[in-house]
Amino acid sequence: MSFENFAMERYQSTFEHEVLFNLSESGVEPLTLAELLEISGTSIESFLATSLEYNHSRGTPKLRERVASIYPGANAENVLVTNGGAEANYVLAWSLLSPGDELVFQTPNFMQVGSLANNFGVDVKPWPLREDRDWLPDTEELDTLVTDKTKAILVTNPNNPTGSILPESTMDAIVRAAERVGAWIIVDEIYRGAELEERETTTFWGKSDRVLVTAGLSKAYGLPGLRLGWAIVPEDLVEGLWAHKDYTTISMGTMSDRLAAAALHEDVRPRIKERTRAILNTNWKVIETWLQDRADTFKWIPPKAGAIVYARYDLPIESMALAERLRTEADCLIVPGEHFDMEPYVRMGFGPELSKLEIALERCAMVVDPLRQST
Ligand SMILES: Cc1ncc(COP(=O)(O)O)c(C=O)c1O
Repeated sequence: MSFENFAMERYQSTFEHEVLFNLSESGVEPLTLAELLEISGTSIESFLATSLEYNHSRGTPKLRERVASIYPGANAENVLVTNGGAEANYVLAWSLLSPGDELVFQTPNFMQVGSLANNFGVDVKPWPLREDRDWLPDTEELDTLVTDKTKAILVTNPNNPTGSILPESTMDAIVRAAERVGAWIIVDEIYRGAELEERETTTFWGKSDRVLVTAGLSKAYGLPGLRLGWAIVPEDLVEGLWAHKDYTTISMGTMSDRLAAAALHEDVRPRIKERTRAILNTNWKVIETWLQDRADTFKWIPPKAGAIVYARYDLPIESMALAERLRTEADCLIVPGEHFDMEPYVRMGFGPELSKLEIALERCAMVVDPLRQST
């Protein structure tokens, strides 16, 4: 059977530690361990006393309670803690989707589940976000895509790569479409909490008993190295997901569980999110100015969440070739539109430390500006 690579992840995994400037990341500059201990008031001694035993396979009760507290009406029994949001998506897809099922898949998107579903022999039906609607989808189109064979509808909200956020009316339309045929609604909410404005994105959780949410600490909390994510699902589904996780990683790291519980303490969580929002707003102005200075070349809709902007460009070069020139000539890694099956687009991250971002953009200009002159 042919195997479809997860193209974006393969590209990032290969080069993110080889370049000086990584603009392929969609989250903000990560916290250091020292910063997390400081911000959460965790003493180094108590942290060092952590026994490196196997962790609770579902996540410790304390962590599961703290995760549940982010979702109105949820409790610890709804939560399965995973190694990153990626594992949560994986176990959901693996346990729910079978060959011949249909998956309605919002595009563009973090392509993990789309590619995985292709690998599982699932029929993937793209549901596009519309650039001319500020990267929002057409709900009438959804109604035509959802059939009796639809096993699940998958949306990422806030969206990667566009940074758009679905309005409540669209969320309700998705729920209606799924309930009409008894499909699951898988919502990847990993960017919830990484909004540029103060108001947090409304969770899908609680809108229907067909809703399954995945998320984690990698984006809004700036803690990707903890590899800490979760699925939050109706109680009767947890057992099945957990059984699948027995085959993937068994449990997450003990230290990660401990630090995640500290990060999600009710007094700490707002402080981390405040840090994220401050970075997003400061850095957005910098990359927006860079784009505005090149408004003849780039067209973009300002992201509402996430440290990424998805820009259409007018240059005589395909996105992968452009990404490769930026990598090899400017030492900057970006994500080409090709990884979202779209041309001519680039996804540029603006989460790094400010001085690094400024230098990275100057270096990108050294590749982009001569190309602009040649058009
Ligand atoms: C929408 C989305 N979901 C999941 C992930 C993976 O998250 P994690 O690093 O926590 O596994 C990403 C990473 O970019 C993402 O963009």
